[in-house]
Formats: sequence, structure tokens, C-alpha cells
Amino acid sequence: KTYRIAILPGDGIGPEVMTEGVKVLKALAEADSSFQLETTSFEWNSDYYLKHNRMMPEDGLSRLKDFDAIYFGAIGDRRVPEHIPIWELIMPIRKNFNQYVNLRPIKQLPGVKSPLHTKSPIDFYVFRENAEGEYSNMGGRLYQKTPDEMAVQNTVITKKGVQRLARYAFDYARKNSVTKVVNATKSNAIIHSMGLWDEVVKTTASEYPGIEVEDVYIDALAAHFVQRPESFEVVVASNLFGDILTDLGAALVGGLGLSPSANLNPEGDFPSMFEPIHGSAPDITGKQIANPIAQIWSAALMLEHLGREDLSAIVMKAIERVVESNTALTPDLKGNAKTFETGDAIVKQIYQQ
Ligand code: NAI
Ligand code: MG
Repeated sequence: KTYRIAILPGDGIGPEVMTEGVKVLKALAEADSSFQLETTSFEWNSDYYLKHNRMMPEDGLSRLKDFDAIYFGAIGDRRVPEHIPIWELIMPIRKNFNQYVNLRPIKQLPGVKSPLHTKSPIDFYVFRENAEGEYSNMGGRLYQKTPDEMAVQNTVITKKGVQRLARYAFDYARKNSVTKVVNATKSNAIIHSMGLWDEVVKTTASEYPGIEVEDVYIDALAAHFVQRPESFEVVVASNLFGDILTDLGAALVGGLGLSPSANLNPEGDFPSMFEPIHGSAPDITGKQIANPIAQIWSAALMLEHLGREDLSAIVMKAIERVVESNTALTPDLKGNAKTFETGDAIVKQIYQQ
């Protein structure tokens, strides 16, 4: 089968790590004739914005909607206000394509040292609500430039929105014999939106006998992530809470350079999008020192979503071998390899399987 993949490299280290991700996909296509690839690259980034005053063309979404998946690098550039790429590119894709599940594995690979000393490896999934919540553009600012200046930012929580996210997480838990789901909340202080959130998580859980929900306040949960990360299996979280928790989780298992994510549209009526959780890292751009593993791991999540668990497993094995051998690693993992050398080493491991 030929898979049509839209490639959005983005800004900063995005194109650098994307080159390695595409290299890996092409190697798979070369090694396995049942996997054909048709990639189309879209240069919708900050350069595009500076030229056209928008992050993507007017018909951008309709040009993406028929792809089998979207493979995304990272976006953000000092020359463009920070909120523009987020609100004009990433959010429209996530929201319009109903990518309401942001799946973020927090998984410690063999050979990767955690700054913590845990008894067993860290390995859990965070299911972050990805289409509503705190990241809403409702609200506004009043009395600007006066001493009474104020801002209101609304959080949007809908019953349907929480239910579909929770069902996805509970389905995963059931399939994987997980008996406890941790719900990240703060309903003691954020009474309306988090109150509804908790209620819907709880009623959804009642459809899944044998699975228990534990409500944990986000502040305490952050501490538990550090104190006993190996005890988690499935965590559900709102958009903001999930965003913060997963950067923390990433730091526990080797850093942002290793952590992938999937923006999933479970119904499949629009493409899903796969991207590392890190941003465009302007501090290390152009030096070929960015770790491409988060981007390559995101490709593994994409392959799994496309129904190619076999190829996804090959990519994961290749990543694990390279990490475990402690060669060809970038400076964030205490190595001195260049971005492309890590990519090449992973490709080599793919051909050896
Ligand atoms: P960041 O994730 O880009 O960088 C944070 C730190 O992690 C930096 O020190 C960076 O060097 C390091 N880092 C990130 N990825 C790495 C990799 N692959 N290998 C080695 N080190 C890596 O987050 P930051 O600095 O807050 O944001 C930079 C820009 O990225 C901003 O414009 C921000 O808005 C944007 N951003 C975009 C995202 C996206 O495209 N989905 C997500 C997060 C931030
Ligand atoms: Mg983030």
C-alpha cells in the first residue's frame, strides 16, 4: 500500500530532525515492498509567515485533509510573535481535524539514565485533551493601559470533549490490562471547568468495570511524577495540565530530545498528526546537535496509527539499539554525534533487522 504523508518541517531544528525522520521512513520503504511512501512537503513556517502574513495558505487545511497522516517538526521563530505559529498553524490543524487525543508516551528506553533512581523503568502514557480546555481563544482584555487593566481567559470544557478523550484512554487501559487510571485535576480550586471534567471522567469510567479512577490534584501529581514515576500506567489530563506534565515526564526519561507525541483523530475522518513534544529550539538551531530521536519515535507512532505495527516495532528496536549501544548519540545524551549521525545509525539498525 502507498501511504500519503504530508511533511511539515517547520522552523528551527524542525527541518534538521525532520530530515532524519524522513530518512528513516524512506529506509523502511526501501526495505519492505509492502510499504510505499508518497511524501509532500509543505514549507509553512515563519519564513512563509513573513512573506505572506499568514502561517499557511487560505486553503491550507483542505490541502492537508486527504493525507493518510501529517508528520510535523516544530514551529516557532524569534522573528514572529510566539502565539502566531501556535494559533495559526498547530491549533487549526488539531482542532479542525478533531485530533482530540494527544498521546504522549513517557517511556524510559533501556540505557537511558533518568535523573531519578527508580527501581523499575518508567513507562506510562499520558492522554492529553487536545482540542479544547485551557487553550481557548475566548476571553479578552479590558481597560488597557489603565491601572485597572484586566484580562479574562476562558477555559472550555464540554461533556462530549471529555467523554471522547476519556473513552480513548479507558479503551487503551482495558486493552492493556491497566486497572488504574490517574485523573489529573484541580477541581478544588477550578470549580466549574474541572468540576465538570472530573464528573465526566468518573461517569465514563463506570462504563469500564474493573478500571478504577484516581483523582489526583495536579500539584500533588507533579510531585508524584518525581517521587514515584514508575507507579503510573495511564494518566488523563486536560490540555494545559497534560502539556506541562509531559514536559516533566520527558525530563524524567532522558529529555525533550527523546519524547514523541501523536495528535490522534480516532474516527479517522481527518488525518492524525505526529510530532515531537519539543519546540523549534532556537538555542541549538543550525548546529546539527539536535537529537532526532523524538522525531523518529513520532514516526513510529505514525506507523502504528497507520496499522503498520510491524514497521513501528522495527523503528523502536532500531532506536533502542542505538541508545543502548551508547554510540551515535547527540550532546543532550552526553554523546558527540551530529543529528545526521544519529539518524544514520538508526537507519543502519533498520537494515540489520
Ligand atoms: P523547546 O522545546 O524548543 O526547547 C527547550 C529546551 O530543550 C532548549 O534548551 C532546547 O535546546 C532543548 N531541546 C529541544 N528539543 C531538543 C532536541 N531535539 N535535542 C536536543 N535538545 C532539545 O522549547 P522553547 O525553548 O520553550 O520554545 C522554542 C520555540 O518553540 C518557541 O517559539 C515555542 O513557541 C516553540 N514551541 C513549538 C512547539 C511545537 O512546534 N509544537 C512546542 C513547544 C514550543
Ligand atoms: Mg508543550
